Amino acid sequence: MRSSQRTIALIGAGPVGTSLAIHAQRLGRRVVAVVARHGRTSQRLARRVKCRSYGTSVSIIPSDVDLVVIAVPDGEIARVAASLASTVSWRRRTAFVHCSGAVTSDALAPLRARGHRVASLHPIQTFPRAALRFADATLLQNIAWGVEAATGQRTWAERLVREWKGRPVRVPKEAKITYHLACTFAANYPVVLWQLTAELGRAARIPGGLGPFIPLILESLSYAYELGPKRALTGPAARGESSVLRKHREALRRLSPTWVPLFNALVHQARRRSR
Ligand SMILES: NC(=O)c1ccc[n+]([C@@H]2O[C@H](COP(=O)([O-])OP(=O)(O)OC[C@H]3O[C@@H](n4cnc5c(N)ncnc54)[C@H](OP(=O)(O)O)[C@@H]3O)[C@@H](O)[C@H]2O)c1
Repeated sequence: MRSSQRTIALIGAGPVGTSLAIHAQRLGRRVVAVVARHGRTSQRLARRVKCRSYGTSVSIIPSDVDLVVIAVPDGEIARVAASLASTVSWRRRTAFVHCSGAVTSDALAPLRARGHRVASLHPIQTFPRAALRFADATLLQNIAWGVEAATGQRTWAERLVREWKGRPVRVPKEAKITYHLACTFAANYPVVLWQLTAELGRAARIPGGLGPFIPLILESLSYAYELGPKRALTGPAARGESSVLRKHREALRRLSPTWVPLFNALVHQARRRSR
């Protein structure tokens, strides 16, 4: 497949950088450099994608690379961008993207000021660091990407996402933090609720941790998506069974009292949304 982004350099070899490097390689791109904070980390990813150039300084990246992907922790992005802008004389057509959902493309301003195309491309997917050795291209197949870029650069950024076999979702810069909040409600806080589910199951002497609840979780998700909350919600809050809710609250107060305020808020929302 013809692409304007045939060679790629990765800065960051965590789960996002690793998945992206393998995905890009499978799509026929060539990973020409891998940079990380520690030499060992960059070497590990470089080996996986058969790249000879790796290290801890951005100066190892060939100046004629087509695309530099910055997949470092959010707090490091601006620092890395400043170092990229001051260390190497890039070809004008070299483009730069970062992968944060919370930091805007303004973090790449020093590179934009030099006439380069820049964008924030955020994969709407979860990449636990604990699963780093399983990180591969499958995590990026057919997913949506939050694209945030300056007006003249959006078309290019969206095309790049499509080349990566993703679906671009345009995120206005001023709404970026709300967009990212939505991502955390999709990916992070449910994990905490599932943990509580397993703990309550254990307190009720149900073996298997979260296992017995998995079909319940998956069907609830599927109905919420297909039917919306009003038609998907079941259970005592949706049915208005106050006496059951009172017993639930008491049981929770005995087992995990700190959860009661959240329980009350969830009951309130479930009632309101199922009406
Ligand atoms: N994790 C997710 O679920 C997820 C989902 C979507 C988007 N993102 C975004 O994707 C980006 C990367 O996330 P991640 O979870 O892969 O991060 P991570 O696990 O923290 O890995 C970051 C990588 O960046 C390297 N690094 C740190 N500081 C650096 C610096 N100053 N210069 C060069 N390399 C540096 C680290 O090197 P060492 O390994 O040598 O320390 C590591 O390889 C972040 O912007 C994040 O918000 C994450």
